[in-house]
Amino acid sequence: MTFELPGCSPECPFGASRAGPLSFEVGQIHRVATIPPAGTDDVDETRRNVLKLAGVGAIILAGGGLAAASIQYVQPPAVGLTSYPKVQLIDVNGKPLTVTGVEAEYNVTTAPLVLFNYPLRNEPNFLLNLAPANGAAPSLSNPGMWNAPGGVGTHGSIVAFSAICQHLGCPAPAISYYPPGTCPKTFATPNSPAQPYYIHCSCHGSTYDPANSASNLTGPAVLPLPQVTLVTDDAGNIYATSLTGPPVNGHLNSLQGDYGVGTTSQLAKENPIYLCPQ
Ligand code: FES
Repeated sequence: MTFELPGCSPECPFGASRAGPLSFEVGQIHRVATIPPAGTDDVDETRRNVLKLAGVGAIILAGGGLAAASIQYVQPPAVGLTSYPKVQLIDVNGKPLTVTGVEAEYNVTTAPLVLFNYPLRNEPNFLLNLAPANGAAPSLSNPGMWNAPGGVGTHGSIVAFSAICQHLGCPAPAISYYPPGTCPKTFATPNSPAQPYYIHCSCHGSTYDPANSASNLTGPAVLPLPQVTLVTDDAGNIYATSLTGPPVNGHLNSLQGDYGVGTTSQLAKENPIYLCPQ
């Protein structure tokens, strides 16, 4: 495989990250956009509930001077889940996501990020199909992965990982999936002596191996990305059922900190940020 992208050094994306640090608000989670039903607004429930409570607090202040009580009520409520929900994934068109659909549309060369929130709102995860684009078995000259740890689908190639970096919490698209050929850099991994695809965080350079449970390839992060446990039913529908690995960055417990996504979670696409020129 040759790389002739102008300005893309053999050490890209690392040389690029050292030359010009990415300006990105660390820890600010981008909400994964979904398409609201026609005629409805996409409402941020957390903000709406806080505004409601602020309104209640203002009434109490005006009526009786119960300042201490009102301050207690304007605090956002502690929210979260007590256990991992089984959440059906919905495709970008609002239909149930199936193995057949994923394998037809996505493969190891897919560049746009495919994201879904789980288990909480505003907690994006990558959905990746690591199977080679040509349908043939992976090899050094045909990059990709079958039977990936935790993988589902015909060849166990469909996997999902938190899209929030384990270093300081940069979310997608600052942390992005790099398909084969995006940058010259390759890694020796348990599955390949020169793996040309990886997940890389532009904020400070952490790299993860999507073919090996998102283990660390480079720091400064020292922990892998949490992996979403995916399951399928007899019809090939795909569900998220839990997270394994460390907690999502910024959480002591991946279940606490926001409201749950509900019973379904819709995929959204986002353009990646690559440090190497395209
Ligand atoms: S937030 Fe620092 S490497 Fe990702």
